[in-house]
Amino acid sequence: MFRSRVAGVGSFLPEKVITNYDLEKMVETTHDWIVQRTGIERRHMVDENEGCSDMCVRAGNKALADAKMTVDQMDLLIVCTLTPDYKMPAVACIVQAKLGAKNIMSFDLNAACSGFVYGMFVADQFIKTGVYKNVMVIGAENLTRLLNYKDRDTCILFGDGAGCFIMSRAQENDPNYLMTVHAHAEGSLAELLWAKGGGTRYPFSQEMLDTGSHFMQMKGKEIFKNATRTMATACTEALNATNTRPEQIDWIVPHQANLRITEAVANQFDFPMDKIVSTVHETGNTSAASIPIAFDTAYRDGRIKRGQLILLTAFGAGLTSGSALLRF
Ligand SMILES: CC(C)(COP(=O)(O)OP(=O)(O)OC[C@H]1O[C@@H](n2cnc3c(N)ncnc32)[C@H](O)[C@@H]1OP(=O)(O)O)[C@@H](O)C(=O)NCCC(=O)NCCS
Repeated sequence: MFRSRVAGVGSFLPEKVITNYDLEKMVETTHDWIVQRTGIERRHMVDENEGCSDMCVRAGNKALADAKMTVDQMDLLIVCTLTPDYKMPAVACIVQAKLGAKNIMSFDLNAACSGFVYGMFVADQFIKTGVYKNVMVIGAENLTRLLNYKDRDTCILFGDGAGCFIMSRAQENDPNYLMTVHAHAEGSLAELLWAKGGGTRYPFSQEMLDTGSHFMQMKGKEIFKNATRTMATACTEALNATNTRPEQIDWIVPHQANLRITEAVANQFDFPMDKIVSTVHETGNTSAASIPIAFDTAYRDGRIKRGQLILLTAFGAGLTSGSALLRF
């Protein structure tokens, strides 16, 4: 068995920004309410002529440059997303073509906001077993097109963006590697956060367009409780699997859903907030993209350094959850 390591990191945020003040003009809300309840101040929105695949390409190219690798060295491309360009084919195939990658296996993975941890888990299996050496894992979301800008419960929370890890086979003596990864789902709670219409179970209809059931819908309080519960459980799982104590960790990079959720998880471990990477004020919740965007932000501004011990944890619709512990 081999080990995998994160060889390169990259991310992309669209230029266009929607502030809380912009949202005040669309729904009955205030900047202060949003900041107090979520920590979010602004979020980014993809250009109207672009979509999920374009953000993937930008993040992917940055990660390749960071890894000092070229796209033809990639053996597998996984795009973790719930907002692909099209119903079919997979956006990963579109990205493969736009990146100019060779004829490699390319697929989408939908585990909602836990998608990136799921993607790392899958990539790790291919690398561990020796099937592939270099895997591009992208988390990318175009959530602003899944939101109802008349529903203040959801439209204040989410934004667009993409992030990427190049995961590669580690040398035998490399101290930096992915130590453990965990993933779960509680499907019986799926209706707490979903977009019911527009799939094959409830195909598009005039009634759907009139009622807006194709947009994301959420029971916020229930989601909040489940998020803190499952992220804390997933963190404990990663710590126990590696005999690691919380104080040994350099950074926690959690899914960026809401600052209050992050604080609740930190409290459970008595973990200081200044060792938790938070970009939620700038990005809102970018679902599967949020962990690699936050990671890349802290890496490029010098907080995250090579050799550090880093815990990732996520929670999302499904209800999915997961964690990963890596020596970066
Ligand atoms: C959505 C969320 C911020 C709401 O915060 P909350 O403290 O639970 O707020 P409540 O739903 O109890 O609403 C409190 C009041 O604010 C109002 N309110 C709701 N949304 C509002 C908004 N955008 N602006 C202003 N007021 C709002 C409610 O109507 C309610 O008013 P009432 O007391 O008169 O009934 C919070 O539940 C949350 O973060 N949940 C998790 C969401 C999430 O992270 N989802 C993605 C997971 S991957």
